[in-house]
Amino acid sequence: MFRARCLLRALRACSSAPCPRQRPAARVSVRGALGVQSANGERVKVQGWIRSIRSQKEVLFLHVNDGSSLESLQVVADSSFDSRELAFGSSVEVQGQLVKSPSKKQNVELKAEKIEVVGSCDAKAFPFKYKERHPLEYLRQYPHLRCRTNVLGSVLRVRSEATAAIHSFFKPSSKIKVPEENFFNIPVFLTVSGQLHLEVMSGAFTQVFTFGPTFRAENSQSRRHLAEFYMVEAEISFLESLQDLMQVMESLFKTTAMTVLSNCPKDVELCHKFLAPGQKDRLEHMLKNNFLIISYTEAVEILKQASQNFTFTPEWGADLHTEHEKYLVKHCGDIPVFVINYPLVLKPFYMRDNEDGPQHTVAAVDLLVPGVGELFGGSLREERYHLLEQRLARLGLTEAYQWYLDLRRFGSVPHGGFGMGFERYLQCILGIDNIKDVIPFPRFTHSCLL
Ligand code: 4AD
Ligand code: MG
Repeated sequence: MFRARCLLRALRACSSAPCPRQRPAARVSVRGALGVQSANGERVKVQGWIRSIRSQKEVLFLHVNDGSSLESLQVVADSSFDSRELAFGSSVEVQGQLVKSPSKKQNVELKAEKIEVVGSCDAKAFPFKYKERHPLEYLRQYPHLRCRTNVLGSVLRVRSEATAAIHSFFKPSSKIKVPEENFFNIPVFLTVSGQLHLEVMSGAFTQVFTFGPTFRAENSQSRRHLAEFYMVEAEISFLESLQDLMQVMESLFKTTAMTVLSNCPKDVELCHKFLAPGQKDRLEHMLKNNFLIISYTEAVEILKQASQNFTFTPEWGADLHTEHEKYLVKHCGDIPVFVINYPLVLKPFYMRDNEDGPQHTVAAVDLLVPGVGELFGGSLREERYHLLEQRLARLGLTEAYQWYLDLRRFGSVPHGGFGMGFERYLQCILGIDNIKDVIPFPRFTHSCLL
């Protein structure tokens, strides 16, 4: 999605100069048209889909939307333009004059001079009905059409804005984006994480990130798992403490949310209002408080003392389950909470050994958030050659990971990084219950509709 600033500038230039009557109308997006502060009869062309149509005795009102904003542009036309083809869902091209609207509902409206139906829409067969609010579960059956609804439009605009915000979060400090890989001559697997490759890159560029699709054979129909999801991953060299890593995580969470809130407030408002009442306050609460930090050991103690009965009995050395994560976040007053220092036996070989005891832990960190549970996973990495070598040897992986050991032989540095599930992030800020509603084409076990 991009803005129509350039087009608007051209439009302004055209309308301030004496403009011959038949000069072709400048194409402008709905967002661009709605953004014109003092419309003065500029001739424009708008293309989009009809969201509503209302005909009065002598006038016809259309609302046209092209996905550039939640709001549609009101088109006012002489009733002689009316035709059966001008229906909810049809695509149209409208030319006319942008004028100040007499109604308080909108600043501007388009006085139509020409309306062309580009593609008509069979309203009877079209799965969405005019003025009906369809449940998200219903919309999910139509992944090829649901992006034309207000709600999916808003979610996907937020997704686009959050993507841009994440890129600019990493950009100012000249972190390098590592491209995702694609083509090989040997058997390869879809990546479950770009982390190890990011570690290679952080060994040269110091601070790197990647943001792309990630694949997991999750046999889960849960509302927070997909087989293909997007992950933002960062890797930072010369980083020595989990504290420093957590600061970057918290800052990424908050900066992105603030950017989204200020760049598409209406889309966020729609989600908060209709899908997740109370979410606005919950998000504000998350943004204004410092995230909390507890150790895994403390987390297990809290769970053991809980009055609630869990399906999985909490116990030191066992994984935290969703029910535990939810309890912990509630216990922390619905403020996101970092859980750090997990048992070594639970975590992958690359996490840095805390060399503690008798309960042996590694410098791992998960961020748990309200409504979603685990949103980030990260750690300090084991940068000490001998410790890493021992762990790999125990797993019989020394040969396969010789290259990874090399990173510790040739100029090793303390470093750490994290991955954030992008769809879970969108769920968390928008309050959307099911992960399948924050990605255009959800793919999960036994389902790949598109
Ligand atoms: O905790 P995970 O598995 O961490 C890693 O893969 C690390 N190697 C990342 C790193 O340090 N560079 O995954 C990171 C996050 C999770 O916290 C979760 O938000 C999300 O990715 N995630 C999923 N999101 C949707 N569907 C799934 N099946 C997911 N699995 C993980
Ligand atoms: Mg994890």
